[in-house]
Amino acid sequence: MNNILYIVWSDNNNIGIPIIDEQHRGIISTINSLHYFIQTGHGDEIIKPTMIILEQYVDIHFKTEEALMKKANYPDIKDHIVMHKKLVEKTKNLSIYASSNNDSNIILKFLKEWWLGHINKEDVKYAPFLKKLLDSKSF
Ligand SMILES: [Fe+2]
Repeated sequence: MNNILYIVWSDNNNIGIPIIDEQHRGIISTINSLHYFIQTGHGDEIIKPTMIILEQYVDIHFKTEEALMKKANYPDIKDHIVMHKKLVEKTKNLSIYASSNNDSNIILKFLKEWWLGHINKEDVKYAPFLKKLLDSKSF
């Protein structure tokens, strides 16, 4: 096993909204823990609680994002929420598939690609709207 984190956080992944950036780092950190536990041969007694933490963290994060997008009148909020719903669904299905087929790499790879892609391609689109909201005195 090598000594490198599965996903190395880069400041290039910051979208400039502190609460969102902080939560994104937390999600990536939880995925790294999941990867570490799998690579070091831990069983379901630690993998399952880690998946539960990840799911709950993602839920809190999406609620934060969606509330801010709503308040900022982000025009593409509906499409963005659909992407969130699909991620939740796919993560659930893949974690069932991964545990019944003993194939953890499939879920780790999916989580890594989805999160880095989503942050850098989709979340960056709402960033200017949220920045404007958070900078305004009315918030
Ligand atoms: Fe998002």
